[in-house]
Amino acid sequence: MIALISDTEIAFDDVGSGLPVVFIHAFPLNRTMWDPQIGALVAECRCIAIDLRGLGDSSPRPPFSMDRYADDIAGVLDSLQIEQAVIVGLSMGGYVAFAFWRRHRSRVRAFVLADTRAGPDSADGIARRRGLIELATTQGSTAIANAQIAGLVGKTTRDKRPDTYDAIHRVIAQEPIDGIVGALEAMIGRPDSRPTCATIDVPTLVIVGDEDVITPPAEVRTLHESIVGSRLEILRHAGHLSSFERPAAFNAVVAEFLAALLYN
Ligand code: MLT
Repeated sequence: MIALISDTEIAFDDVGSGLPVVFIHAFPLNRTMWDPQIGALVAECRCIAIDLRGLGDSSPRPPFSMDRYADDIAGVLDSLQIEQAVIVGLSMGGYVAFAFWRRHRSRVRAFVLADTRAGPDSADGIARRRGLIELATTQGSTAIANAQIAGLVGKTTRDKRPDTYDAIHRVIAQEPIDGIVGALEAMIGRPDSRPTCATIDVPTLVIVGDEDVITPPAEVRTLHESIVGSRLEILRHAGHLSSFERPAAFNAVVAEFLAALLYN
């Protein structure tokens, strides 16, 4: 489906019924990374997976920022007449979730924050992103897929799940350059969300793969400790894209969390 938000086509899937759950993808992927979650959770809730502008099937129309992405999500919820939803964000999806909280907090029923961090980029991180912008504009999306894939998946996936590895590479290699560059600029420009975490007062589940090298478990534990009352789950044999690498384990903890929201 497509919603027109601020003259920009934002693509999304909307399946199932009941408690609305919004899925926000990682960089540089798109909403299809949530297919294993939607397939499993559609019986339990209403799953809405959104392509951030410039990625997947959403138009690559500037501006690109965490605030703009968050407002696009609010716009999709408006178009569906949904007042409140559980927000699930993985990595960059988590950065967007923090912006969504700052701008639309009354619309958040609960959070699932996976393989993400609250702090801003370091100087080295910004320099690396500038290098990726150069790579994307000169060599294209396949070069980005080649550069990113090793960090995105864990050792176990690299060694034992070649189909998963290849599927992730394929998705990245088809992403539009403008969207990749826009997302990199948006991540460079994002604010420090650590003060934001101290204000989160909705049920929050924090998840990390034990083989995540981009947002390692120690860093995600710090995020968990900064959100009062949050719960931390560490998934074994999963890297940064824990939901895609170990879908059954990821879905089980999310399903239990959603059930507790509904029945407690
Ligand atoms: C992601 O998975 O969204 C990215 O690794 C986030 C980042 O580069 O900071």
